[in-house]
Amino acid sequence: SAAPLNDLLGRRHDYLRISLTERCNLRCQYCMPAEGVSLTPKPDLLTKEELYRLVNVFASLGVHKIRLTGGEPTLRSDLAEIIEQLCSVPGIRNVAMTTNGLVLTRRLPAYQRAGLSAINVSLDSLQPDKYERMARRPGLKKVLAGIDLALQLGYRPVKVNTVLMRGFNDDEICDFVEFTRDREVEVRFIEFMPFSGNRWDDSHMVPHEEALRAVRLAFPRLAPTLPRACDTAAVWQVEGHAGSVGFISSMTQPFCSSCNRLRLTADGNLKVCLFGAAEVSLRAALRAGASDAEVETLIRTALRNKKPQHAGMQNLARMENRPMILIGG
Ligand code: GTP
Ligand code: 5AD
Ligand code: SF4
Repeated sequence: SAAPLNDLLGRRHDYLRISLTERCNLRCQYCMPAEGVSLTPKPDLLTKEELYRLVNVFASLGVHKIRLTGGEPTLRSDLAEIIEQLCSVPGIRNVAMTTNGLVLTRRLPAYQRAGLSAINVSLDSLQPDKYERMARRPGLKKVLAGIDLALQLGYRPVKVNTVLMRGFNDDEICDFVEFTRDREVEVRFIEFMPFSGNRWDDSHMVPHEEALRAVRLAFPRLAPTLPRACDTAAVWQVEGHAGSVGFISSMTQPFCSSCNRLRLTADGNLKVCLFGAAEVSLRAALRAGASDAEVETLIRTALRNKKPQHAGMQNLARMENRPMILIGG
């Protein structure tokens, strides 16, 4: 089979994050600009056939994990079918999803039957009114029920993504750690990252070290867990807790040297880095009649331009990029 998608630094890209839609049923402050975003016209979105074709090419180049993102991937009424198709691509071993969790109680059983292997749920507050302020929509109860169902159905761990924002939910750090006491969840505290339109500034970001100190102060019996290869999070466990607590420090301690990710946007652009502005339209290539070999060349060429590390938070805050909702994390 073909050579793996290694870059010049030896980073092996075996993980593809696919945004399935630009739409979302929430309006989270850190993700979507207050004024909203203009959506790509339907004809310029990747069709399912194009998506399957591209995933087959990526899989032939050594990609074996897919994460479905959005927008909110569960807004796709054909999501179960997509999961099933992607699971059947030779070489694909894991199809995971990152979701806001709103519709899991209704839909997760079907996603599981289709082959969904893992689930990450965004949850920024455990208080209903605060949840609604952050997401600009209500929904806490449904999300909590969705997490419970995922656990009941055997997903382990269910990862919970909590973007910490100073003055907003940093007073809930201990409540989130408490949330891991009886549930096999991995709560990950995420440093707020700058994207177009999200009004990032470093005073609102809670650095990893600060969050870790707060956890340790309240839960002194905290021990590190064994690092997993290419994990975004440094994970700790409070003695006696069923779950664990992670820290995703993209801003203060970037983990780019072990990056194994590629991204495909809903409009069919390849992004070799979350913060890489240069994108390549694989959709345009397909529609111009490109062969699989030509698509492969586009992917390898893009990878040659992948930076060793992102430009640092102050530079990123000024850089041109998409709003997060159009990337998918
Ligand atoms: P796993 O596949 O379970 O390891 O999940 P994940 O942590 O990679 O993905 P998830 O979608 O749950 O994202 C959690 C946080 O990590 C979000 O804030 C993402 O934006 C961030 N993240 C995911 N992948 C990358 C990456 O390649 N680089 C950086 N800097 N951040 C990332
Ligand atoms: N900074 C950090 N994480 C973010 N996410 C969305 N926007 C941001 C941001 N500005 C996270 C959400 C979601 C994941 C895909 O990305 O928590 O779970
Ligand atoms: Fe990879 Fe870019 Fe994220 Fe660094 S910032 S880990 S290079 S995607």
